[in-house]
Amino acid sequence: MLEVLKPQPPDKIIELMGLFAADPRADKLDLGVGVYKDPQGRTPIMRAVKRAEERLLKEQTTKSYVGLLGDLDFVGQMRGLILGDTVAPERVVGAQTPGGTGAVRQLLELVRLARPGATVWYSEPTWPNHPAIIAHVGLAARTYRYFDPVTCQVDGTALREDLADLAAGDVVLLHGCCHNPTGANLTLGDWADLTALIAERHAVPMIDLAYQGFGDGLAADVEGLRAMAAALPEMLIAASCSKNFGLYRDRVGAAFAVAATAETAAVTKGALAALNRVNYSFPPDHGAKVVAIILGDPELRADWEAELADMRETMLQLRERLAEALRRETNSDRFDFVAEHRGMFSRLGLSPEQVAALRAEHGIYMVGDSRINIAGLPPEGLDRFARAIVTVGG
Ligand code: LMR
Repeated sequence: MLEVLKPQPPDKIIELMGLFAADPRADKLDLGVGVYKDPQGRTPIMRAVKRAEERLLKEQTTKSYVGLLGDLDFVGQMRGLILGDTVAPERVVGAQTPGGTGAVRQLLELVRLARPGATVWYSEPTWPNHPAIIAHVGLAARTYRYFDPVTCQVDGTALREDLADLAAGDVVLLHGCCHNPTGANLTLGDWADLTALIAERHAVPMIDLAYQGFGDGLAADVEGLRAMAAALPEMLIAASCSKNFGLYRDRVGAAFAVAATAETAAVTKGALAALNRVNYSFPPDHGAKVVAIILGDPELRADWEAELADMRETMLQLRERLAEALRRETNSDRFDFVAEHRGMFSRLGLSPEQVAALRAEHGIYMVGDSRINIAGLPPEGLDRFARAIVTVGG
């Protein structure tokens, strides 16, 4: 049986992790995978996470199963964090999932269950796992242009032109904030226009929310999402706690479906539970319980929010300082967009050859489309990085 298997195409982010690990150079620089690093280059366990884990270790009395939808306290807390009070709670159902990827997968399975002929539209470019999972579950896909490679900003005209082809029943996959890989985000005006278009076409938005709190703030990062949720009958949301709680390896995420009525929501809840059952039965508890403890405890929550704000501020300052260094080294303002982008990533607009030269000649690793992880930049290494970009003709 196994002899018929063909080699799988590599995921470019995962492939890059392997290449970086194998590079023996001591001064190599990892700007690849999206993992937060503090100014000392560490990926810390957040203070509130440590304290919640200590509490859990002391107080937990059983490791018995929780439930197919996971920890409902976690699901409810996450619903509040994302949607606030914009949608009546009885119209929202959620399931705990292993990471944001698990949520994307389960929601696309839900789409296939409800509407197998749906076309899923995703931004060009997007996170490589989006098209991979859409293809894996067997849904049709189309892309919409998103990014202007010259200005390195959202191409609102192209986006609107392409989505004008949206048909009834289609699903539009959007990044809630901190667009991955570009760092270029929709304005509230864009969100309003998309809301009107999606309503007019009877399409359904699916929001991938992997970086809430990494852009402008916990509430600011979901302003567009909330406005859309308040106006539309249906929405799907895939949320991740990997980045904003630093729980990468613990795999903590949640899949939400906003339904038009409480009755439809109840049936959808059953579908999410059934999908969990056939995929992995019960989602892993530990990380989700930690998040539920933090969000439910005013003191821990305040500390988490404060540390998250520090992380965000670190990235915003790195953006400002990198834009300044690039301005100095290139003697131009063409990289000023770096300071305007938000979240963990920026796409710099370099060619694949320039990206390859940065890796070969300078040991600087970024994804082939010139996406950099801003948090991976050492604060004292910004000039070196800017100079390297100039030497490869950037
Ligand atoms: C990334 O885009 O680097 C992260 O979301 C990690 C991943 O799973 O790809």
